[in-house]
Amino acid sequence: MEGSFGFYKKMPFFLCVLVAMSMANTVNGQGTRVGFYATTCSRAESIVKSTVESHLNSDSTLAAGLLRMHFHDCFVQGCDGSILIDGAGTEKTAGPNGGLRGYEVIDDAKTKLEAACAGVVSCADILALAARDSVVWSGGVSWQVPTGRKDGRVSKASDAGNLPSPFDSVDVQKNKFSDKGLNTQDLVTLVGGHTIGTTSCGLISSRIYNFNGTASADPSIDPSFLPTLRSLCPQNGDGSKRVALDNGSQTKFDTSFFANLRSGRGILQSDQALWADASTKTIVQRFLGVRGLLGLVFNAEFGKSMVKMSNIGVKTGADSEIRKKCSAFN
Ligand SMILES: *[C@@H]1O[C@H](CO)[C@@H](O)[C@H](O)[C@H]1NC(C)=O
Ligand SMILES: *[C@@H]1O[C@H](CO)[C@@H](O)[C@H](O)[C@H]1NC(C)=O
Repeated sequence: MEGSFGFYKKMPFFLCVLVAMSMANTVNGQGTRVGFYATTCSRAESIVKSTVESHLNSDSTLAAGLLRMHFHDCFVQGCDGSILIDGAGTEKTAGPNGGLRGYEVIDDAKTKLEAACAGVVSCADILALAARDSVVWSGGVSWQVPTGRKDGRVSKASDAGNLPSPFDSVDVQKNKFSDKGLNTQDLVTLVGGHTIGTTSCGLISSRIYNFNGTASADPSIDPSFLPTLRSLCPQNGDGSKRVALDNGSQTKFDTSFFANLRSGRGILQSDQALWADASTKTIVQRFLGVRGLLGLVFNAEFGKSMVKMSNIGVKTGADSEIRKKCSAFN
């Protein structure tokens, strides 16, 4: 402390402010910081990036899978790699996690990192970096991922009950996010991650055939889009068939998802609901650059909200470890 105070004393005041500001940007109260591995495993981030890229080059659909996996990790037990653990009754066996994909990408990166610097880089950090790299690979703008998370030692399916559901109202979605320290703007921004990826027909069939027991479709669906949805997901058809969450732009990380909400072309009930609620609609409109509202740049906000999310419940103490293998506790 003495040393750092002396460091400040020798500087003009405005420089002190600048240094303090840049420290505030890279360090947060939870123990993660940008460049955590700079001296202990300097190639850590580039190894993750090249591993992610090589997998996405052969299967582009894993980009959305890795982004979603990080989100599902953070919302249960914090961002601690608990989603990655194999075995009966672990988080990954919970219903809402059934469709997660891309575990092999994380395992592959871990193998390479253990070869380069054994026992240094956590699985939780690999996942946080892989989510960022997947967004960038999909055309999004990069951001700096603070690292230094350790891996958790608990993974239970029964903890996964509070994950957001595609049937949640806006109020429920807001509550689930605020429970994790994320505000309404973070909610809309992070749901905007549905600009890439798909969902299964099984999760929308009631919405397009028997909404809320009405024997007809959700009236918030654009009537000219309904035939498309019904032909993509025939009634009593294959519930595992996939539908793009951002019709027309499902592989590109952009604001087309929000434009689709404005047109009644959201796919999930919980997504389209963001356009019906005044508090979330305004934020969607700001991303769309609606005149008279203060604009928001989606690609910039996404990185900021991801950093907030990636700091949920970070573990660094005795309740955590650096796993040797991401799918098993040490
Ligand atoms: C579903 O129907 C119930 C009563 O029939 C109604 O109170 C509720 O608001 C409806 N929900 C939606 C999402 O429309
Ligand atoms: C997107 O919607 C159009 C109709 O507007 C439809 O023809 C097309 O199949 C849809 N594409 C996907 C991938 O859902």
